[in-house]
Amino acid sequence: MTESLQDIARRLVAPGKGILAADESSSTIKKRFDSINLASTADARRDYREMLFSADQAMRNHVSGVILFDETIRQQAKDGRALVELITATGSIPGIKVDTGAKALAFHPGETVTEGLDGLRERLVEYHKLGARFAKWRAVITIGETLPTPGALSANAHALARYAALCQENGIVPIVEPEVLMDNPNATHTIETCHKVTEATLRVVFDELDRARVDLSGIILKPNMVVPGKDSGQKASPSEVAERTVAVFHAAVPTSVPGIAFLSGGQSDELATEHLSLINAIGDLPWGITFSYGRALQAAALKAWGGKPENVAAGQQAFLHRCRMNGLAALGQWNAELEREVA
Ligand code: 13P
Repeated sequence: MTESLQDIARRLVAPGKGILAADESSSTIKKRFDSINLASTADARRDYREMLFSADQAMRNHVSGVILFDETIRQQAKDGRALVELITATGSIPGIKVDTGAKALAFHPGETVTEGLDGLRERLVEYHKLGARFAKWRAVITIGETLPTPGALSANAHALARYAALCQENGIVPIVEPEVLMDNPNATHTIETCHKVTEATLRVVFDELDRARVDLSGIILKPNMVVPGKDSGQKASPSEVAERTVAVFHAAVPTSVPGIAFLSGGQSDELATEHLSLINAIGDLPWGITFSYGRALQAAALKAWGGKPENVAAGQQAFLHRCRMNGLAALGQWNAELEREVA
């Protein structure tokens, strides 16, 4: 029987579980591999991702879904099984990044619009056959002196909505990701500005989703948290980040949305975990709230692995630790002592 969009979405935000974003594009994964002096070949990318997806305990207990890049959804593990099979064998759901990247938006200096709508319906049909049951599209919103502009907000929200509708038409749950950046060059904005811009962005996105007739009960929202820009010099307490983030959701996210899964966006591993835990600890939230982290789930594992076959177990151990900590955070039960004890 085919699983409904609502069932898939609910499974993605099951208590204590969250999403592994392993959908780095070729240029992004090259940057990650550069940090461990590893050449980015198709085999190296396969070996790295195979290490993560075969970390059985981490995957089984803490990872509800994995976002893949086009290359990865077609790749085989060393034993000849599809990487997708490794994921489904642990009970986790394969997903796919379908946007083709953020490109300069004409007449909007410093702003982008995310591309990838042309031919998307046909690509979704193929991805569904390859096993994907959810997808991701990332829109990028930049804060600056006079940014974001209404033009960039509406272009990005419109694209997100058209993508989301096409996904649902094809039995795929759309992860709707409008990322308000915290780590763009010269990100001097305050947490107050991030609060305002994130709320305004979500309002425009939900207006467009409504106009596109997207069924909100079959999406996952992937937002940023409300944090100061990395060059602001401002230090917000973790509880302020949690309170402001939840306030934005109450103001702008309909309660029919089943789940919210955060990006980490350049936060340190531990801070991304602490913030998530404090957000969930606020309690009485109508949405399942969890992680959909890339860097904050993978950085330690990548470093421990270092591209060496003899370090696979060490890489998996580091990955398990971050998954466990974030699993606790998804329940609002993480604390700093647990972080040290288990490590
Ligand atoms: P980060 O957690 O590294 O921000 O990546 C999440 C993601 O999928 C961005 O699109």
